[in-house]
Amino acid sequence: MIDIDRLIVSFDRGLRTVFAQAVSTRAAPGEDLPESELRGRSREHAAALMRVNHTGEVCAQALYQGQALTARNAEVQSALSRAAEEETEHLAWTEQRIAELGGRKSLLNPVFYAGSFAMGAVAGLLGDRWNLGFLAETERQVVQHLEGHLEALPPEDLKSRAIVGEMRLDEARHATVAVEHGAGELPAPARSLMRLASRVMTRTSYWL
Ligand SMILES: [Fe+2]
Ligand SMILES: [Fe+2]
Repeated sequence: MIDIDRLIVSFDRGLRTVFAQAVSTRAAPGEDLPESELRGRSREHAAALMRVNHTGEVCAQALYQGQALTARNAEVQSALSRAAEEETEHLAWTEQRIAELGGRKSLLNPVFYAGSFAMGAVAGLLGDRWNLGFLAETERQVVQHLEGHLEALPPEDLKSRAIVGEMRLDEARHATVAVEHGAGELPAPARSLMRLASRVMTRTSYWL
């Protein structure tokens, strides 16, 4: 049975993720780097890429919350809690960067939060091996995605690049933590389906 208190706490957390401003304990990477002179279309492009990354972090919040609601192993959950805290920092960094670039957050965040929360909750029900396998595969795909963004971001946008670079290191570590705690290797069709879902998210949140 799902504990009603935990359900309320995670609902509250979901609302805050989507509608409130996230707070980071770590300073945003690249804070002391100079602001770029980006203008026009390249500034919009950088803001749109950071909007995609912010939405990705909204999804990460939802996944970690969803699996925490249904997963049982306290040891695994405490190992994942550090990763979940870092996801909150990523959320705050990307949000701050969008604002600095004069952009806005995605209108679709509530939808993506709900979908990712449901996926996380299902993964949590499947037991540690698959729950961790799903998290590890998610984090690996995020690393690849962020590597793509390091190519796509304007070279002069040092601040965005510093944030994305640091997130990439964190996500790779999150995957390692999941593997160290016994993540199973997901079957290829599941991995492809996850890629497809994240493509829908990245393509739509770039514009909306
Ligand atoms: Fe993240
Ligand atoms: Fe992560």
